[in-house]
Amino acid sequence: MASLSSNYVIEFKIDVIKTLKIAGISTGLLTAIGLGAYYIHRRSQTSKRVILRDEVRNILRPFQLTEEQLRRVMANLNTEMTNALKVDDSTENDLAMFPTYVHHGPSGKESGEYLVVDLGGSNFRVSHVFIEGRNRMRLNNKIFLIPHSLLLGEGEKLFDYIAECLQRFIDDNKLSVLKAADYRFDLAFTFSFPCQQKSLREATLVSWTKGFSCTSVVGNDVVLMLQQAIDRRKNLPIQVVALVNDTVGTLMACSSNYRDCKAGVILGTGMNACYFETLDNIPKWKGTRDNQTKQVIINTEWGALGRNGCLDFIRTDIDRELDESSLTPHQQVFEKMISALYLGEIVRLIIVDLVQRSILFPGRMQKSPSIRPDYNIFLILRGSFYAKHVADIENDTTDDLSTTATILTSIGIHDPSYDDCFIIREVCKTVSLRAAKLAAAAIAVLINRLNMSSVTVAVDGTLFRHHEQFKQNLSRTLGRLVLRAHRLVLSEDGSSKGSALVAAVDRRLKTSPMAYEKNLPS
Ligand code: GLC
Repeated sequence: MASLSSNYVIEFKIDVIKTLKIAGISTGLLTAIGLGAYYIHRRSQTSKRVILRDEVRNILRPFQLTEEQLRRVMANLNTEMTNALKVDDSTENDLAMFPTYVHHGPSGKESGEYLVVDLGGSNFRVSHVFIEGRNRMRLNNKIFLIPHSLLLGEGEKLFDYIAECLQRFIDDNKLSVLKAADYRFDLAFTFSFPCQQKSLREATLVSWTKGFSCTSVVGNDVVLMLQQAIDRRKNLPIQVVALVNDTVGTLMACSSNYRDCKAGVILGTGMNACYFETLDNIPKWKGTRDNQTKQVIINTEWGALGRNGCLDFIRTDIDRELDESSLTPHQQVFEKMISALYLGEIVRLIIVDLVQRSILFPGRMQKSPSIRPDYNIFLILRGSFYAKHVADIENDTTDDLSTTATILTSIGIHDPSYDDCFIIREVCKTVSLRAAKLAAAAIAVLINRLNMSSVTVAVDGTLFRHHEQFKQNLSRTLGRLVLRAHRLVLSEDGSSKGSALVAAVDRRLKTSPMAYEKNLPS
């Protein structure tokens, strides 16, 4: 490491000085000799680094996007969005642009008690939400881990497991105590996968994303599947009243505080967005169209952009390699360049490439056979480098890159050199910057489509919440791409709170259908 080698140089200089002094040579001459030796040493170090960095630069260059490329991404996304609003044709259109049957934001008059099941990652969350009027919500929740076997197994088993966890949650929190014998909890199901909806409570899963692959669910109504699993337990007093994508929950939760909040974005394990669209702009809309129903939230499912090749001009060999070896080749092309599930893997594949070219860890495998197995785990195992590693390494500002060294050691790369750490930090920065720029380009399209004088975009997801550099790059790029006033607001717990709000708005409109007219956020 650099600090060690410079200590070594200093000690070496002192020893030489002592020896020469004994031989009677003057201090000035000694200093000149010492500095000369040190300079030669540094030059050899620096020139070695420049050669390395030029090679690395060539490998990273395709990941560095220009503003012109970003504007082309924006134009392509915008065209795909418009086309997919015309007709449901999954062979022609990359995007689904699903109408969600959520027509109104919260008015502030919603109230009541709701359960929410939030399923979208490798664990799921059950929440008990109390809505007590404008901006006042209480939430108690519990996270349940999903055994990996269930993510890839029989779908009915996944739903049975969810029902079992619901039962445990109700029992542990004694929620049924003091309830009338015929009381049934209203449950909103935050299900963060592409679903074609026929109403708020009818939703057919079109495909799995984000590494899920349970059988016998695609093509089925997931609301019905959850309700049937609940009913199989006999004494679980729950009715599923709404299916909500996490982006929609994020938007709804934020719009109770920000009247100009009209879009919701998730930048996490997956990446997606929704926004309010006027029905007149949705030729494929077959549902109600009257004075009270003029807009609907569209779940864009924009992570699917690129299936038909419109992103090929920026895709790299690494993107293709990642896609081919994923559970869903040729799908979610845009998502695979941005979301947290894939960022670490992109970095890992670049590292593997650099190792194969002997740029990283040169000679280490041969010199240290004892550490070979660890290296191999990292080099062979897909998904063994996480977005969190990317974030932490990118943020490493220590002089000797000790944070990076510690992270690398923790995943089996023992004693990396300063140069190794330096290069890996460059890789992380580049991949993360590309993701932030692409996310900014997509959000810019939303802001332009909304065509408002100022707009708030609700955002949630680990990349936005915990990856500070990503967030800064996102905001900076967005500022360059759009002229309209906008702000990005973190929608805390949005996907659970917001889903409860969707159920609450629905309940309120059923009991007093005209109520929203006075209270609709403008
Ligand atoms: C994936 C899903 C989408 C979800 C997003 C964020 O892209 O397809 O429905 O909103 O991940 O969780």
